[in-house]
Amino acid sequence: MKGVTLIPVPDTAIIVVAAGSGTRLDGGAPKAFVGIDVHSILRHALDGVFAAAPAQVIVVAPSGFEGDAETELRAAAGDRIDLGRVVTGGGTRQQSVAAGLDALWGDVRTVLVHDAARALTPPALIDAVRAAVDADTGILPTLPVVDTLKRVDGDEVVGPIDRSELAAAQTPQGFPRPLLERAYERALADGVEYTDDAALFAAAGHTVRHIDGSARGFKITTPADLERARHLLAEERPAATPAAPSPVDAQPPSVARVGIGTDVHAFGGDGTLWLAGIEWPAERPLSGHSDGDAVAHAIVDALLGAAGLGDIGEHFGTAHPEYAGAHADVFLARTRELLAESGFEIGNVSAQFQGNRPRFSARRAEAERALSAALGGAPVSVTATTTDGLGFTGHGEGISVTAIALIHSNGLRAGKES
Ligand code: CTP
Ligand code: MG
Repeated sequence: MKGVTLIPVPDTAIIVVAAGSGTRLDGGAPKAFVGIDVHSILRHALDGVFAAAPAQVIVVAPSGFEGDAETELRAAAGDRIDLGRVVTGGGTRQQSVAAGLDALWGDVRTVLVHDAARALTPPALIDAVRAAVDADTGILPTLPVVDTLKRVDGDEVVGPIDRSELAAAQTPQGFPRPLLERAYERALADGVEYTDDAALFAAAGHTVRHIDGSARGFKITTPADLERARHLLAEERPAATPAAPSPVDAQPPSVARVGIGTDVHAFGGDGTLWLAGIEWPAERPLSGHSDGDAVAHAIVDALLGAAGLGDIGEHFGTAHPEYAGAHADVFLARTRELLAESGFEIGNVSAQFQGNRPRFSARRAEAERALSAALGGAPVSVTATTTDGLGFTGHGEGISVTAIALIHSNGLRAGKES
């Protein structure tokens, strides 16, 4: 066995239930696949799980989304992918947990059940729950209830409730495996649905203790919760590194869309050249209704096309005199707004122009920064090529541009289908 490293099989499994539809969030995709930032809710949850001590990780996915869950699992697990597995969930949370239990490895003694919807749960809380479970006790993370609570009957306030007796339940909830499995069998046999695993476990006569939960362990249920998660992540992102998603990471599964745009302009007219969002003082201008910036126009068409929102002529053509002479920043910023209003945010954009002039490479970074800034920070790359003296670009008559764009649902509204 020389050269083979034997990795001990973990004695703990974490079942991440992600099979819900997310009706209250209404994010245009099953909740787990709605983006918080460039990463989905599920991806954030799994990042937390894999940052905790090694465990078997079972992702319970909505039926039909197993492949998407697998993609997220692979991205989060990295070289620990052998610990991960995706199974199909059921119609209720309890059925989804049961499906996860069926996939446990033989050596597992402790089972943690975790809501994917609690995407920002700290790894330390996961480890704390795991450490607190013993052979006959379940563990529940809780937060104190801070609001003053009242008992009501219709519109009448009937009386106060002593909140010191109450606690708000979170996940992961941890249990000794044999007792949890038997409790689930019993619930199945009785046909009873419990509100969470701790309730199901307690109903089978077992003890559940609570430990301190975390404010970050809140459940993303409504659009306001998603906003809260977005703000938390945005605040934590170092200012020097703007959201710099890699194109691959920027695709929450099932809701990514691509678009293509092309544009051609002839050299001609007065003034200076505007291309790729910047001015080129010594160069011949391109003619056009606006500043003739063919790179920007191709990008606008790629973005509108990806979102199924028509094309540049419809939104910025000669029927819109307010755009005459406008530069790339105006077009691109408005395009980004149009996409946002339709429920999309931009993943990345790549454009290539063919032309003899201008010599582009020395100012590539400057151009990419300008275009990216106009698109709210989305990564934009621009490449340039000549055509070996062939065709109108090779003859120096004009410039031809192709752009493609990747966009995805911003989680606030279902994307408009084209
Ligand atoms: N869950 C599940 N299978 C179900 C229902 C829920 O795996 N049949 C999971 C959800 O994916 C979520 C967790 O249980 O991670 C908590 O459920 P909840 O927040 O209610 O999510 P949804 O059921 O998706 O949302 P909604 O109730 O708004 O439809
Ligand atoms: Mg639900």
